[in-house]
Amino acid sequence: FRTLDQADLKDKRALVRVDFNVPMQDGAISDDTRLRAALPTIAKLRDGGAKVILLAHFDRPKGKRVPEMSLKPVAAPLAALVGAPVAFANDCIGHDAAAAIAQLKGGDVLLLENVRFHAGEEKNDPEFAKALAAEGDLYVNDAFSAAHRAHASTEGVAHLLPSYAGEQMRRELEALDRALGNPERPVLGIVGGSKVSTKLDLLSHLVTKLDRLAIGGGMANTFLFAQGCDIGASFAEKDLADTARGIIETAKAKGCELLLPIDVVVAEKMEPGVAAHVRELGQVGEKDRILDAGPKSAARLIEVMDACKTLVWNGPLGVFEIPPFDAATVAAAKHAAKLARAGKLVAVAGGGDTVSALNAAGVVEDFTFVSTAGGAFLEWMEGKTLPGVQALMI
Ligand code: 3PG
Repeated sequence: FRTLDQADLKDKRALVRVDFNVPMQDGAISDDTRLRAALPTIAKLRDGGAKVILLAHFDRPKGKRVPEMSLKPVAAPLAALVGAPVAFANDCIGHDAAAAIAQLKGGDVLLLENVRFHAGEEKNDPEFAKALAAEGDLYVNDAFSAAHRAHASTEGVAHLLPSYAGEQMRRELEALDRALGNPERPVLGIVGGSKVSTKLDLLSHLVTKLDRLAIGGGMANTFLFAQGCDIGASFAEKDLADTARGIIETAKAKGCELLLPIDVVVAEKMEPGVAAHVRELGQVGEKDRILDAGPKSAARLIEVMDACKTLVWNGPLGVFEIPPFDAATVAAAKHAAKLARAGKLVAVAGGGDTVSALNAAGVVEDFTFVSTAGGAFLEWMEGKTLPGVQALMI
């Protein structure tokens, strides 16, 4: 793909797809990570004298104009971060957009209204893509986190204008390549989260790619159950026991060492303040619910990490929202951060819950790279081609 260093920017209208699908509470942004992620691209375009036209979606308005899903509340916080005014247009195509674009001078920034207010966006309607393309002289995709969607603003328009990868897109792709495409070995994966069913493709793909894979969270219970361990009253997808055994077999055949918990932390209820106990496997009681990996499991994971060069992480190892069931996740995250800081480990993580867990452990800054993506990170880790990235390759 082409990067912005290869673009002639002076006085050009740069149509930039960003991901401003940020968490909002009562009309205010509660986490501006995705806004900050767009700053390097915006700065580069402004420095080059381009007119910066930002295109983004917010939430899922399903092709209708839903006032609560307007991107307008984003303009002022973005302007504060950019350090320059950010104009706002009430529509992303048509008269309003054209009038706002006509006012722009080189270095100005304009944010267009939610692109998903138009049904043509998610349908990747060629006419809608054409209307978007007419607004720019060049197209920049800086929304890796929306690149798993084959929509008009992420895919269609890339075929209609000279297209470039933005700085965040480039950083994401480089980090993912270092983690899984072309990693320094041995590579360790940590996959957690509650359900095997949502991560089947991921696990099946990773066991063919990684040297070691630690499975944690609720999904580990399904694997323990599949191996004949008594898991008491723990959550598990028992109907997926055969599937789990299949993944264990593939891992063996491909030389990927699977690390399942060797001890666990249990409680009778999943709530704050409840009495927690460490149990060896085989000692889980009838009423026990497994809510975290145990201290021995965490210590072994740390030992394995010491012997690896690359870590790719998706999903917490326990119910990290409710201490003390965050202990294994926090211990592993802190150790990974320490190794990454010392230059001994390339540590890459992504996915919504993962980022919250690493934030809670206070280690995001020390990781080599933490993706801004949820679904796109997962699909990329599953080995899937992302339409938004693919379209930039042509
Ligand atoms: C995300 O928040 O993961 C992206 O912005 C994609 O949003 P979507 O799942 O609504 O397509």
